[in-house]
Amino acid sequence: MEQAIEIIRNEHRRFATVLFCLEGVLKDLRRTGAMPDVALMETIVDYIDSFLDRYHHPKEDEYLFPALQQRHPAAGALLDRLQTQHRDGERLLAGMKRALADLAAGGADALSALTDAATAYIAFEREHVRIEETELIPLAEKHLLARDWAFIAAAFAENQDPLFGDDRKRRFERLFTKIVTMAPAPHGVGAPLTAGNGR
Ligand SMILES: [Fe+2]
Ligand SMILES: [Fe+2]
Repeated sequence: MEQAIEIIRNEHRRFATVLFCLEGVLKDLRRTGAMPDVALMETIVDYIDSFLDRYHHPKEDEYLFPALQQRHPAAGALLDRLQTQHRDGERLLAGMKRALADLAAGGADALSALTDAATAYIAFEREHVRIEETELIPLAEKHLLARDWAFIAAAFAENQDPLFGDDRKRRFERLFTKIVTMAPAPHGVGAPLTAGNGR
């Protein structure tokens, strides 16, 4: 498989893991009625925001999408749809951030607003990744030329582009580890959430 595609797919898996963790935390909250761990939720939202906006989407918007548009113009409608979804996802995430800030400030009904926003966000992003995995990537594999892949690989290569470089990667690794460490088992490796230890 092309190295660039492998990087994109690995990032989708990493993102899916964080969404799964978020979904599990929400299920626990509904089951136990405990208050959410605001610090954990903030870390998850911070990770997703930084990861998508500054790390993952630029790889797609600035390199993969234009290359496919050039080699296979018939993919234009699909690429427009995916780029619109990037923007819509940012709006949904911003809504989740607002609901989380309300919750931290003790706002009435903030918890149900947060769970509604997060549930909608998870479903939206899962569908987006599904379309990329099942439609975008197969088209890219079919139509991009070796020189396109070489150009994209050079752009993605660590240490060569400050956008995707080692420091940034290390920061995401630290944030990811923090989420997995904080999240209650079985969604992470933290202490399981019970009605008695809700935070
Ligand atoms: Fe995307
Ligand atoms: Fe993606």
